[in-house]
Order: sequence, then structure tokens, then C-alpha cells
Amino acid sequence: MAMLAKRVASSAARSLLTSSNSTFTRNIHASGGKKKIVGVFYKGNEYASMNPNFVGCVEGALGIREWLESQGHEYIVTDDKEGPDSVLEKHIPDLHVLISTPFHPAYVTAERIKKAKNLELLLTAGIGSDHIDLNAAAAAGLTVAEVTGSNVVSVAEDELLRILILLRNFLPGYQQAVTGDWNVAGIAYRAYDLEGKTIGTVGAGRIGKLLLQRLKPFNCNLLYHDRLKMDPELENQIGAKFEEDLDAMLPKCDVIVINMPLTDKTRGLFDKDRIAKCKKGVLIVNNARGAIMDTQAVADACSSGHIAGYSGDVWFPQPAPKDHPWRYMPNHAMTPHISGTTIDAQLRYAAGVKDMLDRHFRGEDFPEQNYIVKEGQLAPQYR
Ligand SMILES: NC(=O)c1ccc[n+]([C@@H]2O[C@H](COP(=O)([O-])OP(=O)(O)OC[C@H]3O[C@@H](n4cnc5c(N)ncnc54)[C@H](O)[C@@H]3O)[C@@H](O)[C@H]2O)c1
Repeated sequence: MAMLAKRVASSAARSLLTSSNSTFTRNIHASGGKKKIVGVFYKGNEYASMNPNFVGCVEGALGIREWLESQGHEYIVTDDKEGPDSVLEKHIPDLHVLISTPFHPAYVTAERIKKAKNLELLLTAGIGSDHIDLNAAAAAGLTVAEVTGSNVVSVAEDELLRILILLRNFLPGYQQAVTGDWNVAGIAYRAYDLEGKTIGTVGAGRIGKLLLQRLKPFNCNLLYHDRLKMDPELENQIGAKFEEDLDAMLPKCDVIVINMPLTDKTRGLFDKDRIAKCKKGVLIVNNARGAIMDTQAVADACSSGHIAGYSGDVWFPQPAPKDHPWRYMPNHAMTPHISGTTIDAQLRYAAGVKDMLDRHFRGEDFPEQNYIVKEGQLAPQYR
């Protein structure tokens, strides 16, 4: 109760301080009363009933419908998120909470935020809230939070898989098996061991560190670039060398893995010029965000052979259109956005969303690491 009173008081003070900014007018920690909650997830269709733990789809609805409705809240769940006639758009004017996933993101533009007069809270069921205009959310006094850490093991394991798929030239072999062919040469002329190769991660936060730890037993040469250097003891334990200058690290790497968020600083970071700095024949794995890469520059470098293989599960926009260039470039091993939505991950991010909703209804704070926008401020790495 005391915490709630403190927050209401600080919110009121902030409204006064920012009264010149007409958009900063919402009650940041609005709580109490019946809420309209909208969840935007991918559709489960015929797979929805195949696993009781498949909670990440529309039909599964994060497994929180009964709990929400028993408290009198309204819970609308849809996959229909684009355009003026979509289900999401219809509910924008009066929803209080919007839950979305990076796998099937509800793009929350400044325009939508302006229309959403009752909106208090934007929750990401997973990690990565770049589908939201974070500056507009901050200016409007909204809270944006995600389930930090919920699927980091799932993504790190998937990245290891993709590194091996590219290095071993696995996919052409699989295709031969399916099409009835047998051509060892067609695979072997560009299949390599992981041992002894130089792997660099661009971003070594939660996922980057887990990947480095998993790579250690393969006896590779491990490098990392990040805005922050690791604690020396951890760095020593992980066995990776810090590279302060990204452009100095890139030419050393046989494999580059992207593990940083999409922010104003990282959008389009891998453009034509930066890709040219990579070793000829480099392999790139990107499960972070598609828009960190210049789409056409990646497709061109795959066509020229400068990039010898590109794999990831993230695209822009999502779902990826049928004519997205990455579907057609040579030597890719792309999939839909799946690495962070294993059943294990779904159960963790569903539990994290439920916990934050519960805290929101009670007017309590979230775990600090979950906040992406709080009280008009973006989390440090998004600034
Ligand atoms: N494909 C998936 O299913 C999936 C799932 C989870 C997360 N992700 C993506 O992976 C990203 C990383 O996740 P995480 O849990 O490791 O996040 P994290 O916050 O733990 O780590 C991010 C790291 O990037 C570094 N960084 C940020 N901006 C930088 C910059 N401009 N230059 C250098 N370093 C910078 C940070 O210092 C931090 O160490 C997420 O933001 C998300 O976009 C994808």
C-alpha cells in the first residue's frame, strides 16, 4: 500500500514536472478496476490441441484466460494485427494492456499509441520490444516490459545448431536425401569442422554469454564485441576475448553471431560497407533482429559469395512476405521466428507475463531487469 501511495505521488509529481509535454499525461501506474487486456499471438490452428503446454499460440492464450476472467477482466486474443480493419485496431481505443510476442509482433506505432487512450502497459511475451515505438511509449507515460531471460537458453542452443548447420553444409545434404540424390562432393567441397575456427559474437549479454559457454568445449577461438566488457573473472571462465572495436573484430571471424537488441544504434548496423569488412566466406547467424542487417546487402553478399552462409529466424517485417529477398538468396538456412518459442520457453514467458499482470493489478513494481520503458525513461541499451 505504501509503495502504491509512493508511486502515485511520484507519478503526480512527474505529471506536474512535464505538464508542458501534453503527451505525458497518463497515470503510469494505473491499477485497480476491471481491465481490457488484448493478446496478439500466432495462431495454433490444427496444432493447438496437440500439446497441453502449447500456450504461446492464440488458442493457448498463455494459459491465463481463466485466471484473468475469474477476476472480472476482459481478455481478447487474436493474431489479426495489421491494418485499419484488424481485430487489434478495433480494440486499440479502449484496451488497457497489450501483450504481444516477437514471433508475431503487434507493431505498436506512435499513431496507435496516440489512439490508445486507456493504454497503461505493453508486455512482451519473450524478449525484444523493438516492435513498439519506445520513444512514443515513453513520451506517453506507458510502461513497457518483457520477460527478461525467459528464452535465452532456447536461443543460444538454436544458434549453436545454426552454426553447425552452416559449417557442415548440412542443408544441401538433407535436400539430396529428400530428392533421391547421392552426391557427396556437392556437400563435402565446403564442409568444415567447428574446432579451431574463430567465432565472434556481436553482443554478449544473456544469450551471447550462454552461446560462448556452449562453444567453449568445441575448442574454438572466441571473441566478443559489446558496449560493456565482462567482469574479468567471467571473461576468463568463458574464455572469450573482448574486442572493443567491432570493425577490428569482423575480419578475424569465420563465424559471426548477432546477439544485440534492435535499437536506434544497431538498426542497419550490418550494411554493405560493414559486411565488406567481414572475411570473404564468412558465415553469419542472426537470431537477434532482422533489421540489424540491411536486407538487400545481405542478399547481395550471399549472391556474390562474400557471405558463404546466412542463418537466422528473424526477419523484417514479420511474418516475412513471400517475396522477401532472404527466401531466395543462395546458401541460407532461414526459418520463421521460432528459436525463442520452444515449449519450455513458452511456459517461462507465460509465467513471467502472469506475474507482471498480477503485480500491475496490485500496483507493485516488476523485477527491475524486465523494464524497457519505465517512468518516461528507456532502458540504458535502448537510449
Ligand atoms: N529469436 C528469438 O527468438 C529471440 C529470443 C530472445 C531474444 N532475441 C533477441 O536477442 C536480443 C538479445 O537478447 P539478450 O537476452 O541476450 O539481451 P541482453 O540485454 O541480455 O544482451 C544484449 C547485449 O547487447 C549489448 N548491446 C546493446 N546495444 C549495443 C550496441 N549498440 N553495441 C554493442 N553492444 C550492444 C548489451 O550491452 C548487452 O550485453 C534481444 O534484444 C532480442 O532482440 C531473439
